[in-house]
Amino acid sequence: MVTISRIRTKRFFEASSIRWKILLAFFVIVGLSFAVAATNLTGLVRDYLFEQRTREDSLLTEKAALAVAPFFDAADPEKINQTLKENAQAMDGRLMLIDQDGKVQYDTLLDMSGHRLQLQEVLQVLNGTAEQAYGIHSPGEKDAARMGGSEYSGQLAYSVHAMDGEDGQIGALLFVSRIQSLMDSLGTVQWQLISVFVLIAIAALVLALFLSQILTKPITEMSRSMRKMGKGDLSVRVPVRGSGELRELAENYNTMAAQLERLDKTRNQFVSNASHELKTPLTTMKIMLETVMYQPDMPEELRREFMQDMNHEIDRLTGIVTDLLTLTRMDGDKNGMKQEAVDMSALTEEVIHMLTPAAEKRGQQLEGSIEPGLHMMGDRARLNQILYNLTDNAIKYSPDGGKITVSLREEQEKLVWRVRDNGVGIPAEDQEHIFERFYRVDKARSRETGGTGLGLSIVKQLVTMHGGEITVHSEPNRGSEFKVVFPRGGAAE
Ligand SMILES: Nc1ncnc2c1ncn2[C@@H]1O[C@H](COP(=O)(O)OP(=O)(O)O)[C@@H](O)[C@H]1O
Ligand SMILES: [Mg+2]
Repeated sequence: MVTISRIRTKRFFEASSIRWKILLAFFVIVGLSFAVAATNLTGLVRDYLFEQRTREDSLLTEKAALAVAPFFDAADPEKINQTLKENAQAMDGRLMLIDQDGKVQYDTLLDMSGHRLQLQEVLQVLNGTAEQAYGIHSPGEKDAARMGGSEYSGQLAYSVHAMDGEDGQIGALLFVSRIQSLMDSLGTVQWQLISVFVLIAIAALVLALFLSQILTKPITEMSRSMRKMGKGDLSVRVPVRGSGELRELAENYNTMAAQLERLDKTRNQFVSNASHELKTPLTTMKIMLETVMYQPDMPEELRREFMQDMNHEIDRLTGIVTDLLTLTRMDGDKNGMKQEAVDMSALTEEVIHMLTPAAEKRGQQLEGSIEPGLHMMGDRARLNQILYNLTDNAIKYSPDGGKITVSLREEQEKLVWRVRDNGVGIPAEDQEHIFERFYRVDKARSRETGGTGLGLSIVKQLVTMHGGEITVHSEPNRGSEFKVVFPRGGAAE
């Protein structure tokens, strides 16, 4: 219980960690770029609006200054007043005419006349540093009302332009305009932009959630089926979808699962085959034993025959167990193989010598055609088992009086060992199976000759362990030829 819940929690954190990473990355990228875009865009809009306002105000101020300058030069108060009033009305603001001493001479709102203005823009123009100046101010409440007019408390823009008379500069014209409404609309634009971007960010978040879900789903699915497999269900597969790495992962996973399943099946089959093979002689023996036991007055002759048969069954059992042990030992111990120089010519002679009595017993001719002195790297005992099993089969599956030829020669740097017989042969459809464990073409015949059906699978495995290859050519009723090709360096090559 504890482990299960721990695994679950861990999996949840792991799966969600990828998800959260994707989510965070997506959100940071989208959010950040939109924040930057929003700042830039509002800045741009503000600059544009300000610039337009500045240019407009400056132009109008310049025009008014040009219009009023000649009257100021000529000291014509009536004309000055009229010109200023008309312009101020058209410009929707307040105009003040300031002399070279910085004193307000005329003011369209009248109340500043005779005052001295300490405005930076005015001073700049009066002392000749600039022909015109522009500035935006957030004055205090008192100054706002004083400069902007009664009850005004917002921001103000000051546009100043020089006035020239016949003998040079004679003063400056100040245009005071209320720009609070402009600032307000700027604020509105800014807010609108921000809300649009917030909306986009929320959409991005939702999209990221969605995306991370899609991206992590195959991984979650895969780990779910892996967990199932861990519990013993080897038939589960993950769905292969989409493309790219995840698809490849799913495919590889499925390949591995199929391989495992196949392995599991082969093993189960092997175990059941082995049990069956062991059971048959045991059953036979039990029947024979019981017959002997419950028939005390059985003729001595018959009793001996039963004993002999039982002995034969025991031999068979021993043979199967020995072969099984050989197989399992090879499975577990592939590195325990010796690497020694083996004289294959001598070994082949030896095997022929060992099996000659068996062949002679059946009137068969066992011949060798062996190139002398051929060596290879390998495990002598195991190489011996290969040659022995194959030659033994040739004898077993050939009729009395048959002919068996064993040959060894070197071809293209490789050792080629062959055994040919003129025996029963192997049907084409059986040829691909004879190297499987317990596979026999003719069960009854194999049993008669004491075979276990494991010989060729052992041979195949040993040949592979030596880096070699085994092939069979056979025609039913005409004979077979088994051919083994070994690299001279053995498994190392
Ligand atoms: N030289 C051969 N000629 C005909 N059939 C053969 C020959 N060698 C092997 N076989 C077939 O392949 C089967 C498997 O061989 P093997 O694994 O050695 O088992 P067995 O113990 O039956 O000899 C044999 O049962 C036989 O049917
Ligand atoms: Mg055999």
